[in-house]
Amino acid sequence: MDLLIKGGTVVTATSSFKADVAVKNGKISAIGANLKPEKKTEVVDAKGKMILPGAIDGHTHLAMPFGGTVATDDYFTGTRAAACGGTTTVFDFVLQGVGETMDAALERRDAICKADGPAIDYSYHIGVGDVTTPEMLASMDECVKRGVTSFKVFMVYDFGVDDGQFFETLQHAAKIGALVGVHAENRDVNNCLIKEYLAEGKTDAWYHYMSKNEAVAGEADVRAINLAKMAGTSLYIVHLDNKQGVDAVAQAREEGYPIFAETCPQYLAFTKEVYKNGIPELDLRARDFVCSPPMKGKESLESLWNGIKNGTVSTLATDHCPFLKSEKDWGITKKDGTPGNFTTIPNGCAGIENMYPYILSEANKGRISFEKAVQISATNPAKLFGIDYCKGAIEVGLDADIVIYDPKKEFVVKNAENQHGALDHTIWEESKFKGYPVATYSRGKLVFDGKDYVGESGDGQFVKCKKVKFKSPEF
Ligand code: URP
Ligand code: ZN
Ligand code: ZN
Ligand code: ZN
Repeated sequence: MDLLIKGGTVVTATSSFKADVAVKNGKISAIGANLKPEKKTEVVDAKGKMILPGAIDGHTHLAMPFGGTVATDDYFTGTRAAACGGTTTVFDFVLQGVGETMDAALERRDAICKADGPAIDYSYHIGVGDVTTPEMLASMDECVKRGVTSFKVFMVYDFGVDDGQFFETLQHAAKIGALVGVHAENRDVNNCLIKEYLAEGKTDAWYHYMSKNEAVAGEADVRAINLAKMAGTSLYIVHLDNKQGVDAVAQAREEGYPIFAETCPQYLAFTKEVYKNGIPELDLRARDFVCSPPMKGKESLESLWNGIKNGTVSTLATDHCPFLKSEKDWGITKKDGTPGNFTTIPNGCAGIENMYPYILSEANKGRISFEKAVQISATNPAKLFGIDYCKGAIEVGLDADIVIYDPKKEFVVKNAENQHGALDHTIWEESKFKGYPVATYSRGKLVFDGKDYVGESGDGQFVKCKKVKFKSPEF
């Protein structure tokens, strides 16, 4: 064996137990009591620590062109930050252009990713940008052949789908062993409200929330679920943020439909109040929190926590899509010098380094179990996206993507001092975590030593996803 992690508590999605973990050739080779090192084995003492699977962040936008600019973190800086927060795999979004086949979009983005040199393993979802012709729809098949088996449609944005295109995409995906995710917001109502508010001179970040409020999201969640029921397919609702949506997912699952939901730490930690004034004492302005969908009210926040506890919410992911402060300022003055408003703020926030520490800290404080934190951050995303044959758990035969977690370590997020992305601010500034990763291994290689990134750019490998088919809400 190459590496032996001794004396820690292994946490899986269903149980925790004291055991040593051995690694050979990048895979977990043994788990058990009193494992003996070989001559050249590196031994790591994990007494008092927890041994967790690395998190799988199923929702990132690295170097994505959006909102008139490009998301600040590239495939290296973003994945470096991920590694330092205990995430060992990311699923990044490839946005298909109009008239571009999905496999061509995949090739285009994969070239950028490889040139950046990802720090950890990665795969993709295809963000559907054009299914207006049979050729475009059929290009999903080629992506599945290449090991990309999940797609995301947008019910908002000008490049989003209408209900018919959404329905066709669902049907086609089911035929070829793929999963469809959805960004659910009612585009028409959103656009009407934007027009009204701007006409009334209501231009600040609060109206970003108001135009994408609970009802705007909830209606679309319900409609998306109904479309999946009509198509007889599974569905994955990404960045679920509101109570009506949580209730609809819960009911559909109770009825036996294979409906799955993801939420993000920002919907669990912040409420719409951030759009009133930001958090001035931390130098965080309201516009710094602008992302889509926006954070909602307290009732929604509580329903998401309940949804995690009772299994309605299956996964946690970041929707990491960072923009510089100077770009967030376009909400005041646009790039061209004319007055800005809430619609001219690039949508998205950072979170790739904070997801696992945040949810584990909440577990450590007793809000959920550690097993539940592992389940939604690693094990469930691996199953949903078809990579559970190699990732998502501490199990013999799987990749040695391992986090050593110190439940006693106190950590305060300070962007300038202890974060490893490229952004100049974070909505997580001054967040206090109880417990923190002290080591991250990517396929058995140390990439985070408790303080810094110690891996190498380009070490990350593409993870091929297998075909997926869900007939019931099995997890
Ligand atoms: O605000 C966000 N999330 N920007 C990225 C695009 C999306 O809708 O996921
Ligand atoms: Zn989205
Ligand atoms: Zn997103
Ligand atoms: Zn550092």
